[in-house]
Amino acid sequence: MRIGMLTSGGDCQSLNASMRGVAKALYENMKDVEIIGFLEGYKGLMYGNYRKLEPKDFSGILTEGGTIIGTSRQPFKLMREPDANGLDKVKAMKDTYKKLKIECLVILGGNGTHKTANLLREEGLNVVTLPKTIDNDIYGTDITFGFQSAVNIATNAIDCIHTTAASHGRVFIVEVMGHKVGWLTLHAGIAGGADIILLPEIPYDIDKVVEAIDKRTKEGKRFSILAVAEGAISKEDAGLSKKKLKEKKANSPYPSISYELGAQIQEKTGQEIRVTIPGHTQRGGSPCPYDRVLSTRFGAAAARLILNKEYGYMVGMRDGEIIKVPLEEVAGRLKGVDPDSSVIKEAKLIGISFGD
Ligand code: F6P
Repeated sequence: MRIGMLTSGGDCQSLNASMRGVAKALYENMKDVEIIGFLEGYKGLMYGNYRKLEPKDFSGILTEGGTIIGTSRQPFKLMREPDANGLDKVKAMKDTYKKLKIECLVILGGNGTHKTANLLREEGLNVVTLPKTIDNDIYGTDITFGFQSAVNIATNAIDCIHTTAASHGRVFIVEVMGHKVGWLTLHAGIAGGADIILLPEIPYDIDKVVEAIDKRTKEGKRFSILAVAEGAISKEDAGLSKKKLKEKKANSPYPSISYELGAQIQEKTGQEIRVTIPGHTQRGGSPCPYDRVLSTRFGAAAARLILNKEYGYMVGMRDGEIIKVPLEEVAGRLKGVDPDSSVIKEAKLIGISFGD
């Protein structure tokens, strides 16, 4: 039996650990299984770029970040549009699948990847997926692999800022990845002891942010730390139409929301502000032990689906147990932070400001 495998979208720490989980379980439980790795995500499937993977390829990669078969972003909205040479991408992917006599495609990726995986399922291909992303925003699973590793890195960044912020008596903004959802900022913010946490799901009022900083200053605290998601948004901007917001961003003199916020805070409080952006370090390095366990379980569970010929599912986690979620339920849905959830309430109880 021939299984195709691909990793698509932004990378994260536990892709290799997940592929290893799938491969080990397949080799262990199936005779004559061959695994083909499509290179650089859906591109490999479209253009027939692949390599046969051997059991030794999956050995020693549990702790390695990145992906041994490469990845790329192939926007879902362009899938139905021909490429620069007029190639029908969906047809090309189906042709490769058929030509190679693939029994099932194992696809590791985030939200965009799941939309395309579901499209391939609708086109009649056998697909099993694994939820990957540091953003933890995939619908249908409590957690995605990559998230905890990124939380560790972002928390470490805030920890390092703590000492220098305290020495100098400054206000520091740490910008955490996440354009659409704030899980990573929320968890790293709480773990790192941030005083103010700004998330895309809770539009902020700049005066409330300033109030929280002033309160700390009055209490004799010489520094404040803000954990700000890339996609944090002011109440004012949240009220703009999509078009107006796009225009505003395009004309902004600031490279990101943190710099805009920093300038406003400096003007309103007179305090010295610094901005730190850990950026793609949050997706790099070795997966943390939690992710290694999660990926191994997800990988084995994906292999189990293949052994049972149960296709069209994403493996996920609910209340600590592995589940299978139909792809049509996952595709096109986002799992954001609920502003009324208990974790937000508990954070507020200890005095963390969300600027609302
Ligand atoms: O993969 C998720 C993510 O890391 C987001 O948190 C971030 O906003 C985005 O990808 C960055 O994308 P890119 O790697 O394409 O710059």
